[in-house]
Amino acid sequence: MKTLDDYVQEVFSNQLAQISDNTLRQKVIDVCVEALKMGNDGNGWKNMDFPFTLVIPGVKVPFVDHVRIVTDLALQSASILEKQGIPVNHDILVASAILHDIGKPLEFALTSSGEVVKSNVGNKLRHPITGAGLAMKHELPFDVVQNIYQHSWEGDKGPGRTIEGEIVHRCDFLHFGPLKISLESK
Ligand SMILES: [Fe+2]
Repeated sequence: MKTLDDYVQEVFSNQLAQISDNTLRQKVIDVCVEALKMGNDGNGWKNMDFPFTLVIPGVKVPFVDHVRIVTDLALQSASILEKQGIPVNHDILVASAILHDIGKPLEFALTSSGEVVKSNVGNKLRHPITGAGLAMKHELPFDVVQNIYQHSWEGDKGPGRTIEGEIVHRCDFLHFGPLKISLESK
């Protein structure tokens, strides 16, 4: 039987392959698996096909696609920036990008009619803090914990983002912003 560990490895295979440290790669997988188990108000998720955001009406983009897009954008951005002499730690960048929204499985829940709504957990805690908490529990590097916590507006309040955190933050909104505009203009 396919486990959640197998599922995460499969859907993020291209992105996980960009992490050189085997221990870090497994910790990223472990955090994803635990978020899926804890999410949906403790009832768990079988996959990452729920919408990645509830704030754009009618958005159908699955969570798994958003995470892959942000991670791929982050890697491409890093390769351009590195040519300008800006140092980027790829392992930290990819781990942070894959995990930036990993609190969202906890922030959302499924109703009996199959609608995805804000969960009880999500009404108390935003996904940056639950994601950072899960990353700490699994002993991810503190830079990754910081980047998860600061990927959204929480990071605007300081302390300053890391280079990798700044890239993930921008790439997150690079997907969200144009998508929102394109849906609103339909
Ligand atoms: Fe995101």
